[in-house]
Amino acid sequence: MKKLLAVCLVLCCSLSAFAQNTGDLNVPAKPDRVISRHIYGHFAEHLGRSIYGGFYVGEGNTKIPNTNGVRNDVVEALKRLKIPNLRWPGGCFADTYHWKHGIGPKDQRPTIVNAWWGGVTEDNSFGTHDFLNMCELLGTEPYLAGNMATGTVQELADWVQYVNFAGKSPMSDLRRENGREKPWNVKYWGIGNEAWGCGGNMAPEYYANEYRKYATFLADWNNSGGLFRIASGANSEDYNWTEVLMKNIPKNLIEGVALHHYSVIDWSAKGPSTTFNEQQYFTTMKRALFMEELIQKHTAIMDKYDPENKVALVVDEWGGWYEVEPGTNPGFLYQQNTMRDAMIAGTTLNIFNNYSNRVKMANLAQSINVLQAVILTDEEKMILTPTFHVMEMYNVHQDATWLPLTIRSESYVVGNEKLPAVSGSASRDKNGATHISLTNIDAKQAQDISINIEGAKYKNVTGRVLTSKKLQDYNSFDKPNAIKPESFKGAKLKGNNLMVKLPPFSVVVLELK
Ligand code: AHR
Repeated sequence: MKKLLAVCLVLCCSLSAFAQNTGDLNVPAKPDRVISRHIYGHFAEHLGRSIYGGFYVGEGNTKIPNTNGVRNDVVEALKRLKIPNLRWPGGCFADTYHWKHGIGPKDQRPTIVNAWWGGVTEDNSFGTHDFLNMCELLGTEPYLAGNMATGTVQELADWVQYVNFAGKSPMSDLRRENGREKPWNVKYWGIGNEAWGCGGNMAPEYYANEYRKYATFLADWNNSGGLFRIASGANSEDYNWTEVLMKNIPKNLIEGVALHHYSVIDWSAKGPSTTFNEQQYFTTMKRALFMEELIQKHTAIMDKYDPENKVALVVDEWGGWYEVEPGTNPGFLYQQNTMRDAMIAGTTLNIFNNYSNRVKMANLAQSINVLQAVILTDEEKMILTPTFHVMEMYNVHQDATWLPLTIRSESYVVGNEKLPAVSGSASRDKNGATHISLTNIDAKQAQDISINIEGAKYKNVTGRVLTSKKLQDYNSFDKPNAIKPESFKGAKLKGNNLMVKLPPFSVVVLELK
């Protein structure tokens, strides 16, 4: 009897320690959807120490190794992520930026007061050439965010001509005078930013009309330059914004409509970046997972006006937003990055992969020293955050064929609320390897998942995992490698069944061959 009780006890304990989730991976004979690499895009605004001190330390800097003023360590790190595109110069800053102030001899450039972010005076030493040459160095596509609110149609049309026109024209001649013969051929153009807020507090009807005017003069009749024009999109669940834009902007003038959504607990009480409690973690994850509903509902509106799926949903700002680090400039949005951020990144990227039929581009906010950064710098020191590691682990999905993965998840419960603990996405790369990325957001409990595979046979599985002892752990300048991906031994293949044991708050990427 005693023995029986002991066996029951062990069984109960192991059941509660490892909840059982199930899933199905379907490998269609003719898969038809590619996960655009542009979902893994980044964002570099003139904000705090993102550009100055982050990307750019100046040509004359002898302490920090650089190429034309751009930090070499940053370039190497971002290349590891294979960053597909980089949005610049804002954000809110974009609608205050006059690009002509950032070209020509650096000592003759006028200054600009960064009114939105800390009120600091910038010397415009990082301008169009610096940014576009840096993109070449990074092997990434530039995404220029144009000034609609304080600029003019002429100013933006001139910018396009300056960077893209190969023949003779006033702007391309000016470019040559400034030392660049060949155009950069920039494809991605944003027209204004958050036009409902810092970009002019416009009504959607007014913005849609303005957009039509700007979009007309950026391109020729047939948009023969192949520009990808992105309209300033909705703030989270402002579905009316998307509705008005989709209804009022002719489809020959728009290639993408944006959406911004931050995982913020409460705009007036954002909570600390590292000393958060489990309730705050739960709320952050609830906001992050809300991305799925947002995409579904904005997509439904887009489907109504664009059934041919020509216009992309571009989530060009997403990520966690907390209180700034104590003692730092509140306008600089400098925050640390913990395992909570890794969980936001893992779950959000799974959502983007799974909705890649409409989501063709996205930009994490932001790359360096701002919000959910992948890189933090302190003078000559540089560290990679847990978010960096997730983006590096997930880069296997870039331009890979999407495979449908359905997960029936156990719940992660805090108080009276619950969220699905496990999420995932899958793809097959051009060499035939299948990758499955899985997240377990449960702060305490490991999750077992059993995945049934249909349509393909695999011989072996390998993987990597990102986790830590505590959710609040982070990489610091003293301990830069406290959190980094490790090899993962918790996955077993038996015939067409894949069993995975996901540790609490972990991100796992598996490779099946
Ligand atoms: O990413 C920081 C800011 O957040 C951007 O400038 C703005 O577009 C958004 O409100």
